[in-house]
Amino acid sequence: MVEKIQQQQLDHKEVINKNRSINKIINSLKTTEGDGFIVNRSFPTNSISFIDPFLLLDEMGPMNFKPGEAKGAPDHPHRGFETVTYLIGGIFEHKDSSGNSGKLNAGDIQWMTAGSGVIHSEMPEVEFSKKGGRLHGFQLWVNLPQKDKMTTPYYQDIPSSEIPVVKLLEDSGHVKVIAGEAFDVESAIRTKIPIQYLHFTLNPGSEIIHLIQSNYNAFVYVISGEGTFGDDEKYAKRGNVIIFNSDGENIKIKSSKDANEPLQFLFIAGVPLNEPIARYGPFVMNTKQEIYQAIEDYRNGKLGVITH
Ligand code: FE2
Repeated sequence: MVEKIQQQQLDHKEVINKNRSINKIINSLKTTEGDGFIVNRSFPTNSISFIDPFLLLDEMGPMNFKPGEAKGAPDHPHRGFETVTYLIGGIFEHKDSSGNSGKLNAGDIQWMTAGSGVIHSEMPEVEFSKKGGRLHGFQLWVNLPQKDKMTTPYYQDIPSSEIPVVKLLEDSGHVKVIAGEAFDVESAIRTKIPIQYLHFTLNPGSEIIHLIQSNYNAFVYVISGEGTFGDDEKYAKRGNVIIFNSDGENIKIKSSKDANEPLQFLFIAGVPLNEPIARYGPFVMNTKQEIYQAIEDYRNGKLGVITH
């Protein structure tokens, strides 16, 4: 684990006039996935279909499973984008049609570039399911540029121990750098397009100014606690999605002074692809024709089967 003291706060007085404003704050919606496990979906929903280059964000849990009750997502396909799983509680297990399998423990990341297509299963680990316990995690879908949509599938499995953690100044909290470069620290993940994916924990009564270039689309998902966001200091709490306008390079966030828990949130930003999107369930391409092809390839077994 890398630890560094971040210096960005020192500069914020000089650039304070360029704080980003809020485009909108929405509630995540409870929905059912896979074989019946419940997720809090930030998007796509009726109010927002995607935040270019991001296609979906789901929070799994937090929930306490009784023994034998844990559910997951059995065999299903993907083509044309990346799925990013970040677990903060419980144990997950995945298998795919290329013969890959592995476990994800709390704090670990799996960045799967589905590219031309895989069939995989994402299930709570067998022993964890038997015993029951607390499950909590996130899945983000990152779109691939047109030129990379049919790339050969590959994984980046990053254990918690390799995810840099940056301490914030004045004991305001810490940040895990899941993807991208922030606070002079570089994540272990290689991304196809410029992305910043950070997990902030801010102690009550803290204020930060986080720097992000103005060509990045940026949003926040609040995991716990409450605070104010953006230049206009709009209030948001657990389960809210805050979408920023691209009108500055500073993200201003304050955690509520009276809160009885830290403000935890995911900060996710990326340079938009600005390419046409055609999507149908687990397939995200640029044209309808490519979607028909994906469905046909899946039906004809070209994405393979899980045999192990
Ligand atoms: Fe999946």
